[in-house]
Amino acid sequence: MKRILLKTGDGSFTFQLPEWDEQYHSKNGAIAEALHVFIKEGLHHWISKTPSSEISIMEIGFGTGLNCFLTVIESMKMDLKIRYTGVEAYPLEFSEIEKLNYPSLLNCPDQLFLQLHSAVWERGVAISDTFQLEKQKRFFSEIERKNSFHLIYFDAFGIKVQPELWTAEIFQLMYEALKPRGVLTTYAANGSARRAMQSVGFTVERLPGPPGKKEMMRATKE
Ligand SMILES: C[S@@+](CC[C@H](N)C(=O)[O-])C[C@H]1O[C@@H](n2cnc3c(N)ncnc32)[C@H](O)[C@@H]1O
Repeated sequence: MKRILLKTGDGSFTFQLPEWDEQYHSKNGAIAEALHVFIKEGLHHWISKTPSSEISIMEIGFGTGLNCFLTVIESMKMDLKIRYTGVEAYPLEFSEIEKLNYPSLLNCPDQLFLQLHSAVWERGVAISDTFQLEKQKRFFSEIERKNSFHLIYFDAFGIKVQPELWTAEIFQLMYEALKPRGVLTTYAANGSARRAMQSVGFTVERLPGPPGKKEMMRATKE
């Protein structure tokens, strides 16, 4: 499917899928959205609730690698050991990745960002002393990990374009992949996704959303 580079509200780039009228991130700010939904309401929330020196995270939709990059930066700042699994069925081309302006906006070396994308698939790779990345090339419906993650960044395309990813079947896989008291965080806030999460056992909170969005959701495996 054709992808077009798009500048979002905070100056950071994302990709747009014109056929679906859908973006990889919010048009109001890709970095702002990722920092709010996944870092603040996901990673920082988890750490404040469960102080620990090690955390295991799965990302649903590795895409541009922005969430992963922000998480690497946090792991360095906090000296926190992170094992990160990024699941993605349709990786971007390297020529597309090189166009993204995340390293310069975040004041980090290009090399660190590109390293995330050049890491081999299906194997754990040390990105830094504190961060290990395993990228898995597969469909979300093929996730088989059980009781493995403290945190899931659920960053699939929206329910309007991929309703099959916001169902009880998919959230059941997420529930099983999480450890007890594990947390799933997502930018979405629609009622049918919330009910699908609740139907498999999640407790769901509605929280203030990132810029331009009233609400987002966070689900906990109680
Ligand atoms: C909203 S975008 C991801 C955004 C990504 N987290 C980022 O920061 O760039 C959703 C991602 O899910 C991937 N995807 C879509 N359907 C999928 C499926 N059924 N299984 C695995 N990956 C899928 C897309 O290729 C895309 O990279």
